[in-house]
Amino acid sequence: MIGVYLSGTGNTKHCVEKLVHLIDETAQCTPLEDSRIESLLEKEDTIVLGYPTQFSNAPFMVRDFINKNHSLWKGKKLFIVNTMGLFSGDGTGCTARLFKKHGAVILGGMQIKMPDSVCDSKLLKKSVEKNRQIIKLADKRIEKAAEQMKQGKYPQEGLSFIAHIMGLFGQRLWFYRKTTGYTDKLKISDSCIGCGLCSKNCPMNNIQMEGNRAIPGNRCTMCYRCISSCPQKAITLIGDTVHEQCRFEKYV
Ligand SMILES: Cc1cc2nc3c(=O)[nH]c(=O)nc-3n(C[C@H](O)[C@H](O)[C@H](O)COP(=O)(O)O)c2cc1C
Ligand code: SF4
Ligand code: SF4
Repeated sequence: MIGVYLSGTGNTKHCVEKLVHLIDETAQCTPLEDSRIESLLEKEDTIVLGYPTQFSNAPFMVRDFINKNHSLWKGKKLFIVNTMGLFSGDGTGCTARLFKKHGAVILGGMQIKMPDSVCDSKLLKKSVEKNRQIIKLADKRIEKAAEQMKQGKYPQEGLSFIAHIMGLFGQRLWFYRKTTGYTDKLKISDSCIGCGLCSKNCPMNNIQMEGNRAIPGNRCTMCYRCISSCPQKAITLIGDTVHEQCRFEKYV
């Protein structure tokens, strides 16, 4: 078994690592941007894949990865972990359908509520205490699921026809244009001091340093990693002001 994930602010990384290590403490977990990823996946029979919900869809980088590596999935057993701030309908189903098309077997899926990673919109902010409670609840659900999975019983969250309809009409249709590709809408303000952190950590290699300035490209997968860790709060995407930056390690 191997755990792989895309995680902008650490929520999905935590959930995948916890679930996988409760089932098999020797199993490897690694991010999707790991340069060895294809060869690691080729060797494994069972894959736990995690990603955050974006507008009730999977991030474009994840869907792109699945399609580009279509020959990898035939006969593989997939368990899908989808983290979300509030609602994802069929957050797991979005990739389950793709995997099935490429010949994979879907063992099941979990949709786990975690702190909201969007930090440039006030609407979605919760207190640190509230986020701590959310993580405690998530951990309990993961522990229960791991026990079930060890006995061969897999949660089936987000995989039903009803979940599909909820995801589609609850959000995905209305935000369709935001999820059809990578975005060029990332903004970096003049308060950038050129520390290079965003450029170093971007899973898409989408930020280049030019002298003392970070310059965004047009292949952002909206993970919010750079936005949540810039010391100057100089980066925004959906909104124009960074409020409380969201990072998993702040809540534990
Ligand atoms: C661009 C974007 C869109 C999002 N859309 C949704 C959504 O539709 N529903 C939801 O419940 N959470 C949504 N979220 C919240 C994240 O899915 C959630 O915080 C997730 O746990 C972040 O995981 P990470 O820390 O591994 O990146 C969105 C986050 C981002 C950055
Ligand atoms: S993390 Fe912020 S301050 Fe550092 S280079 Fe990137 S935008 Fe500039
Ligand atoms: S530019 Fe920022 S938000 Fe976009 S993919 Fe890179 S780290 Fe994530």
